[in-house]
Amino acid sequence: MCRVSGYIGKKEALPIVMDGLRRQSYGGYDSSGILIGAGFNLVCVKAVGKLENLEKKLENRNLKGNWAIGHIRWASHGGVTEANTHPFWDCKKNIYLVHNGIIENYQELKDKLIKEGHQFISETDTEATVHLIEKYFQGNLEEAVRKALKEIRGTYGFIVIARDDPQKIVAARLSSPLLIGINQDEYIVASDPTAIAPYARKIINLDDYEIATITPNDLFIIKEKVPEILELIPEVAEKAGFPHFMLKEIMEEPEAIENAIRGRLIPEEGSVKLGGLDSVSQKLREVKRLILVACGTAHYAARVGEYMLEEYAGLPAEVDIGSEFRYRKPVVDKETCAVFVSQSGETADTLAALREMKEKGILTLGITNVVGSSQTRETEVGVYTRSGPEIAVASTKAFLGQLATLAMFTVYLGRQREMALVMGKRIVSELSKIPELAREVLKSAPEIKKLAKKYRDFKNFFFIGRKYNYPVALEGALKLKEISYLHAEGYAGGELKHGPLALIDENFPTIAICPSDSVYEKMVSNIQEIKARNGRVLAVATEGNEEIKKLVDDVIYIPKTLEMLTPMLSVILLHLFAYYMAVLLGTDIDRPKHLAKSVTVE
Ligand code: G6P
Repeated sequence: MCRVSGYIGKKEALPIVMDGLRRQSYGGYDSSGILIGAGFNLVCVKAVGKLENLEKKLENRNLKGNWAIGHIRWASHGGVTEANTHPFWDCKKNIYLVHNGIIENYQELKDKLIKEGHQFISETDTEATVHLIEKYFQGNLEEAVRKALKEIRGTYGFIVIARDDPQKIVAARLSSPLLIGINQDEYIVASDPTAIAPYARKIINLDDYEIATITPNDLFIIKEKVPEILELIPEVAEKAGFPHFMLKEIMEEPEAIENAIRGRLIPEEGSVKLGGLDSVSQKLREVKRLILVACGTAHYAARVGEYMLEEYAGLPAEVDIGSEFRYRKPVVDKETCAVFVSQSGETADTLAALREMKEKGILTLGITNVVGSSQTRETEVGVYTRSGPEIAVASTKAFLGQLATLAMFTVYLGRQREMALVMGKRIVSELSKIPELAREVLKSAPEIKKLAKKYRDFKNFFFIGRKYNYPVALEGALKLKEISYLHAEGYAGGELKHGPLALIDENFPTIAICPSDSVYEKMVSNIQEIKARNGRVLAVATEGNEEIKKLVDDVIYIPKTLEMLTPMLSVILLHLFAYYMAVLLGTDIDRPKHLAKSVTVE
């Protein structure tokens, strides 16, 4: 989304950095800024809008210097204002930084740094980084960067300079591209090779966890794998007052959706901006078929994605689980794109399927939560779900991040194809409202707790749904069995009559997900089949549907939204239901027996 540019050498830096920004501006941006250094004199200029606005501000200023950094921004955290435009500086106006990526734990860092006396001027995630570097700066910039990176969680490709450690650029990368062009006595840094090509033939593509220190005469690169932040934070603090990580993570579901869509929706164009796909947008235009591969909960998200992609992007899509796909003989061609969905990015079966597809030479795309994971490194391109760390073994908020990302991916591919502007606008607008609606749904928690008490003595459960909510039924059943050890099965509503109905009696309740959508009437028929056999039914319905009360034993409501987005609301209730059942049954909710968070073996 954002792009960085930097220069250090013997020439005038400003024209080269400005040219770098211009050459990288094809992906869209809404503001820009530069910082130029001449000895101890640092000058920072920023402008909102087009690069021309920045150029105008630079006119007649005769800014000379041979090291500079620049940035074009696509707003994600905080509006399009000069204060939110890069470069950012520390309290002493010593350190300046431009950044491409997202700092996931910025709020936590910011709160801590403010307590320590740092003053912030923007709403961005990036600004926390520059203050953190300031905290560790004792005269040597790369040393301060190295220490700061240990506390940062997220993605970054950044360039930083310090007045008090002059004639030096430090660049670091994790999951956001960063390249260094090498010429005689000069170095050019950028996010994109197009900015380097006119100036240097030799290029170094920084790897994840690498930190480069660049002076006009030298370039050093060190690689330091940063320990996972998760391990450094005491558990109790992380639970933030919740009795279990799982409950905390369910309560974070609206935020997970918000984070996934932040800065990515373009309401006026009825489209989305997924920066990670920029480099293959043309290739994606030519794709004729999608294969989605995932395991566990991520597999159910992919199944919802299959419905979205076929209905709205008009692309044939099929979904498989990693452990099956890796041993199939899938028929693929160069017009197929394989999409891998994973929270951890380390699931062995999903990775094996990915490697198999790479072997076949087809386009591979990852939808992943964990930054820098194997899946993000091995797929050709990808989109982060940005759900934040998920600690409970049973996946909850990551599922919401995956659904939101798949909805955006659908709009992205749909708008490249036949999706009309009005439809794009409608989906984007409805999607932007989902976090608020999800917060509404969470207010039903006390009601679900009561329902759990009512259902606690049953040993078997069916979960049924159709179309978009069929995978949600699978997810609801999986969650219940994972953490409460009760027997639960998910079925497509229409499939009950082909066998499972034989089990229904007054002791075998069904949770029926039946929002007022295109298959509502069909679901009502399925519910009737259950009632005719004395089965108890707990329905998840759309607010305002009073009729359903006459048919079922209990109802919980979700607000109205677009059919394809209903899973993001209905599943929250099922996650809460599984959680409260498990609380009543006294199981080890965050670490259920026999299960692991990330299954890195076959
Ligand atoms: C394990 C976890 C599940 C998760 C699945 C896939 O089985 O217990 O919660 O859905 O792996 O994990 P992934 O990290 O690939 O999404």
